[in-house]
Amino acid sequence: MTVPLPAPGKATASAPANIAFIKYWGARDLERALPVNPSISMTLTRCRSRTTVEVRPGPGEDEIALADGAGGLRPAAGAFAARIHGHLDALRRWAGLAPGAASFRVATHNSFPAAAGLASSASGFAALTVATVAALGRAASPAELSSLARRSGSGSAARSVVGGYVEWPATRGPATPPADADDPVAATVAPADHWDLRDLIALVETGAKEVSSLAGHRRAATSPHFDRRLAELPHRLDAVRRAILARDFAALAPRVEEEAIDLHLIAMSSRPPIFYWQPATLAVLAAVRALRGEGVAACSTMDAGANVHVLCPPDAEEAVAARLAATAGVHEVLRDRVGDGPELHDEHFF
Ligand code: PMV
Repeated sequence: MTVPLPAPGKATASAPANIAFIKYWGARDLERALPVNPSISMTLTRCRSRTTVEVRPGPGEDEIALADGAGGLRPAAGAFAARIHGHLDALRRWAGLAPGAASFRVATHNSFPAAAGLASSASGFAALTVATVAALGRAASPAELSSLARRSGSGSAARSVVGGYVEWPATRGPATPPADADDPVAATVAPADHWDLRDLIALVETGAKEVSSLAGHRRAATSPHFDRRLAELPHRLDAVRRAILARDFAALAPRVEEEAIDLHLIAMSSRPPIFYWQPATLAVLAAVRALRGEGVAACSTMDAGANVHVLCPPDAEEAVAARLAATAGVHEVLRDRVGDGPELHDEHFF
């Protein structure tokens, strides 16, 4: 059988990070990023990865560069580049391209600090997936993009290809069997314009975290609290979904906070334990509780890192931003909000 060479093409896509209200923590199959539990997230707007992909027909090495956002490119290396190479291979397989049929040139840029628990792998692999599919001149449904993004190994990327409030089930599939019957894909619970929520991210750490979320997923089931959380999750998931649909912040806030504490409780009680928090993390959590005591609607959540996402309705944003900025140990407050998902752009990095 001859495999047709793809036409040369170039595309640039950006995709946002997302913040999980109910977390993906623990994998049934880590290689394929198949989660133990369903998760629900809010897709963001400003924290984005932007990626240009060029398809070069014929044999050759993939080239991966980091764009500095000011016209400069430098080669990517190490584990970061290795994960991108792995995902490009997965996308080549999806496109039916034999090894040697095409190589890719990639340049990528994050609008926010990478690897600090800000879901940079979610936005990065979502943008890489959307740009590669477009550069290949292929069409893919949102469900297919979600499945493809997940094959990067970053499960949360499956949610970043969808806008608004997003649920990613733990099982089932998008009806593409027999190829991959176990293929859970993310879908919208409510679009971004359903409910204007803000996410103020208190940055207390901008360096790379010590333990990756992949290691966290691997260790999660060693915690004595893992099974207890799973037993409570259906109720919590349902409460979060209903609060989103009813735009009920008072119902959402306690569920989001207890879920974030559960993730970190499990991380800290895994064997060996994982501590993501810094002293300033606790200072921010206390500041959010104090705000609430003063009647300001706000709640906190954290992913696998020390930074704290503070969710609030628009009329609380200024009060929350001012308090976070004044909290000891907070370097910067990123202001983000619910958004629409990936976009294609006409301007390329090269
Ligand atoms: O997508 P991963 O493998 O980086 O895992 C994401 C883990 C959390 O961010 C902590 C939770 C989540 O659902 O986003």
